Amino acid sequence: MNAFTIRRELRFILNGKDVDLSDVAPDQTLLDWLRLSRSLKGTKEGCAEGDCGACTVLVGRLTPSGGLVYESVNACIRFMGSLDGCHVVTVEHLAERDGRLHPVQQAMVDYHGSQCGFCTPGFVMSLYGLWMQTPEPSDRQIEIALQGNLCRCTGYEPILRAARAISSYGGTAKDPLFAERASMITRLQALQDGTRVEIESGDGKLIVPADLDDFALLRDALPSATVVAGSTDVGLWVTKHMRRISPVIFIAGLQELKTISVKDGLISIGAGVTYSEAIETLSQHIPALGELVNRIGGQQVRNMGTIGGNIANGSPIGDTPPPLIALGASLTLRRGVERRTIPLQDFFIAYGKQDRQSGEFVEAVHVPIPGADQSFAVYKVTKRRDEDITATLGAFSLTLSADGTVETIRIAYGGMAATPKRAFAVEEALLGQPWTEATVERAMERYAEDYEPLSDMRATAEYRALVAKNLLLRFYLETTSGAGLAQVSRYEAA
Ligand SMILES: Cc1cc2nc3c(=O)[nH]c(=O)nc-3n(C[C@H](O)[C@H](O)[C@H](O)COP(=O)(O)OP(=O)(O)OC[C@H]3O[C@@H](n4cnc5c(N)ncnc54)[C@H](O)[C@@H]3O)c2cc1C
Ligand code: FES
Ligand code: FES
Repeated sequence: MNAFTIRRELRFILNGKDVDLSDVAPDQTLLDWLRLSRSLKGTKEGCAEGDCGACTVLVGRLTPSGGLVYESVNACIRFMGSLDGCHVVTVEHLAERDGRLHPVQQAMVDYHGSQCGFCTPGFVMSLYGLWMQTPEPSDRQIEIALQGNLCRCTGYEPILRAARAISSYGGTAKDPLFAERASMITRLQALQDGTRVEIESGDGKLIVPADLDDFALLRDALPSATVVAGSTDVGLWVTKHMRRISPVIFIAGLQELKTISVKDGLISIGAGVTYSEAIETLSQHIPALGELVNRIGGQQVRNMGTIGGNIANGSPIGDTPPPLIALGASLTLRRGVERRTIPLQDFFIAYGKQDRQSGEFVEAVHVPIPGADQSFAVYKVTKRRDEDITATLGAFSLTLSADGTVETIRIAYGGMAATPKRAFAVEEALLGQPWTEATVERAMERYAEDYEPLSDMRATAEYRALVAKNLLLRFYLETTSGAGLAQVSRYEAA
């Protein structure tokens, strides 16, 4: 890339129209822009934190293989700076010019999927995104697509009936986003000019690097800038905490960070890979992780949020660090052209403090695939099954020697300490011991050495301490039940 080529405007396509914007604040959300600057008020604001789905729109982006994929996203926490080179589709784009409704809309009308109507555009857009990818979805696929859409009126059953019926109203071939796909790809390709975007607005500044090397350069030069990948954490810093985040470097469009590869028993996941992009590979090689990903946020959050962001954020209740630590994952950090790879568990030093030098960023995480003789499980405990933040999450990885003693054991928890953390004392009590209930019960007494959990709105300290021990017992029972280890992330009502 030519670092000296700088474009001073964002360029993307809104519904059918080209948009050039030279005055965009770094914390401007797509939702505010649609409603306040374009008067596109079909997209609603419910929660402004990615939970309710009322603001759902589709964002189409080119894939590395030259295709075009449309994904549902939360416009309330999506910043404008991440839209360069994309196609934004709002609910206003669906009906035909003569007023005839789109099959998704007509199904919602006919099956009484709408009452007060506030959530309806969001449901329509989520179902539209699903229908484009899977015209005849299973009930499970519908549920997954709608995890991030809340309705207070319908009781959901009419919406599910509408979802099942969409294809009977017309096939996808006539849909504009299908029919015009080739020309849209050409239009979006024309926007990919390989330049860096820099826009100053008031006292704020946003930057979209031209490529990964440009990002490394910028990160080094502006170590205090806010890096934004999927914005599913940073979005809330703005909408809920009114934090100032300028200058902002947007990295969601960097293809080099979007690679996911499987080689020599290791899955390497680029920091820009979203949950939705990772799920197929994870489900194939580490099914329990695939199940866990489906318990993170709703589909819109999974379409934006990255594993890299989950790690870099360093939250003690981030869902991916504990299982990745239990699997022995490592992290590649980069500053300029320098790279270093460290065990993931060493990255988390204290609350809000990670082993990251000034100007360094997360480039990739490398996850060993469990061997055939290895038992691995992760249990996420929340108050409701879908779209809820972890109270306690435990991850376990075990191999036994031929005589049934514990050969290797790695246990890590979230929600139990100021960081995602290994249970070293518990592991010590298990290592080399026969894998029996008596050993596990002895090990359960060591939890207090590893963790002093807090009480908060999600769970009391007592509950966390108890459930953490019981998860080990559950892991033991599952590995010895004879039915084989259930490779699923479990749900427990806290
Ligand atoms: C409704 C909702 C539900 C959610 N549910 C869950 C859940 O169930 N489980 C869970 O774990 N999380 C959940 N989250 C939190 C969030 O989705 C995850 O933490 C997500 O993985 C963050 O990734 P991101 O790409 O959106 O990060 P961003 O918000 O873009 O960034 C997060 C942090 O990481 C930094 N960062 C991002 N990428 C890099 C990089 N490459 N190098 C250095 N720093 C970087 C940013 O500067 C920032 O500090 C939820 C969020 C929402 C809004
Ligand atoms: S307004 Fe609720 S998810 Fe965006
Ligand atoms: S129809 Fe009223 S919130 Fe869904």
